[in-house]
This record gives sequence, C-alpha cells and structure tokens, in this order.
Amino acid sequence: MLQRVVRSTIIDAPIERVWAVIRDFNSHDQWHAVVDKSRIESGEKSDQVGCVRNFTLKDGHRIREQLLTLDDREHKSTYCIVEATVPLQRYVATVTLKPVTDGNRTFWHWESTFATPAGMERELREMVAQGVYEAGFDNLRRHLREGGDLRLPGSPGAASNPMPLALLVPSRRIVVRHYGGADQLVAEDHDCPAPGPGEVRIRQRAIGVNFIDVYLRRGWIPPMLAEGGTPGMEAAGSVLDVGESVNGLLPGDRVAYLGPVPGSYCRVRNVPADWVVRLPPSVEDDTAAALLLKGLTADYLVHDLGRVGPGTRLLVHAAAGGVGLLVCAWARRLGAIVIGTVSSEDKARLAREHGCEQVIVTRDYRFADAVQRLGGADVLIDGLGDAARDENLAALARRGHWISLGQATGALQPIDPNVLVAKSITFSRPVVFDYMATHEALAMRAERVWRALADGTLRTPRVERHALDAAGSAHARLESRATTGALVLVA
Ligand SMILES: NC(=O)c1ccc[n+]([C@@H]2O[C@H](COP(=O)([O-])OP(=O)(O)OC[C@H]3O[C@@H](n4cnc5c(N)ncnc54)[C@H](OP(=O)(O)O)[C@@H]3O)[C@@H](O)[C@H]2O)c1
Repeated sequence: MLQRVVRSTIIDAPIERVWAVIRDFNSHDQWHAVVDKSRIESGEKSDQVGCVRNFTLKDGHRIREQLLTLDDREHKSTYCIVEATVPLQRYVATVTLKPVTDGNRTFWHWESTFATPAGMERELREMVAQGVYEAGFDNLRRHLREGGDLRLPGSPGAASNPMPLALLVPSRRIVVRHYGGADQLVAEDHDCPAPGPGEVRIRQRAIGVNFIDVYLRRGWIPPMLAEGGTPGMEAAGSVLDVGESVNGLLPGDRVAYLGPVPGSYCRVRNVPADWVVRLPPSVEDDTAAALLLKGLTADYLVHDLGRVGPGTRLLVHAAAGGVGLLVCAWARRLGAIVIGTVSSEDKARLAREHGCEQVIVTRDYRFADAVQRLGGADVLIDGLGDAARDENLAALARRGHWISLGQATGALQPIDPNVLVAKSITFSRPVVFDYMATHEALAMRAERVWRALADGTLRTPRVERHALDAAGSAHARLESRATTGALVLVA
C-alpha cells in the first residue's frame, strides 16, 4: 500500500522570494540541514525538467532524484526518487506555493506518496514528515531571514553583495549643529548598531525632504528634535537585517518608511518594523521617498479630512509644491474644482498640468478677492501659516473648512472662536502621523498611493535630487520658494 505524507505551512515572505529558492533543484545543500552536498548530474541546468540531482545527506545516505515538472506560473514542481540508499520506493513528491492574500506571505504545500518495506511504514512516514518537510520549512525560514537566498542565482538581489550581518554598519548622517539656518546641517560619519527587537536595519538610498524638517532645524519643535539630532521623517531603500520578532520583512526587501521620530537623514538606520512598507517593483526608491509622506498626506486630506467630492471648491496653497501637486491631481480626479495659489507663472503652468483649474499667482499672499469671485473655498488646504491668516478667513465660503496643514511663513497665531462664527467656519490642525498610527492604516494608505500612481491619478513626482551631504542646499532651495514638486536626498 502506498503511504502518503502531506505537510503545509505559511512562510513570512512573498512568493517570489520563496519560489526563487524552491525552483532551484540544486539549492538544498544551501538551506536544508539534512543535505550535505547536492549536484546536478550530466552538466544539466537545475531547472531543466528531467535533470537528476545527486544528494549526499549528512547521515551518509545518498539519494538521486529527478525533476518531473516545473511550473513557474503555478509555482509548482514535482520530482521522484530514482535511486536511494534509504528504503523509499516509488517516491513522488509535489511542492506547491500560493500567495497569501496580503501579498507578503506564502502558503507552501508539500506532499508525497511512496511505498516502504513491510514494518517500516510508520518510521519512514515520520522521517519524511518531520525530518524532511517540517525541518525544511524551518530551515528555509532561517535561510530567508539571513538573506541566504540573495546569493542564489536567479533570485531577487542575486547580483548584489551578500547581506552584511555585522553588529555595526558604517553610515553617514546629517546633524543640526545648532538651531538656525540651512548652514547648521552638517554631515558626519557614524556606525549604525544592529537592529533591536521589532526593528529593521535599512540601507537607505533616497530620503524625502519635507517642510517639517525645516521647522525642526530652526528649533520650532524642540520636543521632537534637540540640537545635535538628525532630522528627516522618511526614506526608501532595502532591508539589511531584521531584529527579533519581526515578521513579514526580510533582508533584501525593497522598502520605504515614515514615522513620527526624526532621524532619516542618514545612510543606514534602524526603524520600527511597524513604520515600514514593502515597495512594489514598479516604484523606484526616489519616487517612493518623494511620495510616501506627501502622498499619504494628500490621501487623508482629500479622502478623510477634506471629504472632497464632485463640485467641492478646494483652495490649495503652494499648489506646485510637493504636497500641493498631489492634492491638485487627486482632488481633480474626485471631481473637485481646484483653485491654487503659487508665486510664479512657471509654477502656475505646472499646477494647471496637475489638475489645478484656477491658479492665482501671488507672492504676497493676496488671493481672497479672486477666490470669492469663484464662489469662495469650501475646503482650504493651508501650508502657509500666519502670513495668509486674514486672507484665508476672507477666502472661505460659508461653512468652509480651514485645514491648517503647516506654517511655511511662520506659526499661526491663536484664532479667536468668534472669528469663525461669522461664517460657521470649521478649523482643523492635523498631522499625517495620526492618520497612519497603526501598521494596517499605513499599509492601506500606502497601497492607495501606489494604486493612484499606477492608474494615472497621480503622476510620477518631479524629483529634485541632492546628495545627502548637501542637505543644507536642499533646505535652502525649499525655503527660497524656488522648488516645485519634491526634494530627495540621495544616500
Ligand atoms: N500636517 C501634515 O500632516 C503635513 C504633512 C506634509 C506637509 N505639511 C505641510 O504642507 C506644506 C507643504 O509642504 P511641502 O513639504 O510639500 O513643501 P512645498 O509645498 O514643496 O514647499 C513650500 C512652498 O510653500 C510656499 N511658500 C510660501 N511662502 C513661503 C515662505 N515664506 N517660505 C517658504 N515657502 C513658502 C512656496 O510655494 P509658492 O512659492 O508657490 O508660494 C514653497 O514652494 C508645509 O507647510 C508642510 O509643513 C503638513
């Protein structure tokens, strides 16, 4: 009678990573603890159907197995034993992988049928189930965690260097010497320690520059960044290694992150795994760094806080800026009438190209009359702050909603509620980090941003690149009102 063994498990890695290892018929000596040596006979390729692999096991046994089918679409392979010193007869096994719906994990099913000499059924069933399949699941998990698959030919990242699993990794970072101007940003060498529990160590390649980084450098939010600290809220790159109890992220994964604790102006950084999302292959590092914080901001502004829909008259300040262009494009797609302020004709042209129907060119924050001629603003997205305060109040429509997003011109002075009552104005002072307070919320919003990019709602952002060491120049450019789109530091 034929014996049947079936085992399955979930592996915390995307199907491409697991399949890259499994489909290589000659890889077991790199990850399965029972296999000492593996070679493919007759010089055939390890993915050639019909090829025979020759195993020497750690316990001295020898097994020759033949690849019968290999299906890259179904992620399935079948093989059989052609000769063995263990008494497994007519052994045929199938490995099948399926993606788990969250896209980050893989269901692995391994089954076989075989005959045994009389009296050895139970012993050999247990050997296959535990010694080969269950042990294989655990061994492969460890192999992926240690980045071993990145050395296999044909696997993602195979061409890059093996993972540096060093305790300290040399890095470079920017610090704010003293609160003040852009010249206070200085570069220094440092070492990044190994990731702690729940942390991921990332080799960053592109770092998003945001206006909040300027506030921090000026010393406007001391509880968030002390002198000597490193600014920056987001970056993109790849995982070097992961700390204890991190699930769903592996060395070599391309990722981006944002979080409420500054420190991203550096080459290598440890961050909580909860801040991190995997990047779709189509999203480049600098696109991710240009888009993650600003795109999530645009997402919560138009969908949650602003509740923008067909016919909403939306006023966006700095409409050609990093956040501004994204808000214009997304709101227009939702059917809003988008009105923007910008400081130059060039910026006006760009804002129009991104869906801003009515552009007001003003360098001195005079826009209320023009907005009122268009019916007033139902929703106002204001990153300017104090210099635009009175004009904002005048530009709002009855029951208008003033979203005070930032303070590029200086901190907004307190607003008397009696000023709001004149037109039943509502006022919000939101911050993006409260709209991604859980990993689920972050992943959901990031997914929405990547989708909006893929379906053309958002364009690939215009990116102005600066070297990490030149972070001061990037800040000076942002503060001079000369930039459009996003700025990124290249590490
Ligand atoms: N609360 C949140 O969740 C959140 C998240 C992201 C961003 N923000 C805020 O959103 C705003 C836009 O951020 P961003 O990073 O995308 O920057 P940005 O819009 O690319 O750059 C700032 C723009 O503000 C305008 N501006 C007007 N007066 C200025 C002045 N005196 N100094 C500097 N800029 C001035 C300029 O556009 P013009 O020359 O066209 O006027 C400038 O290009 C900022 O206020 C930022 O703090 C808030």
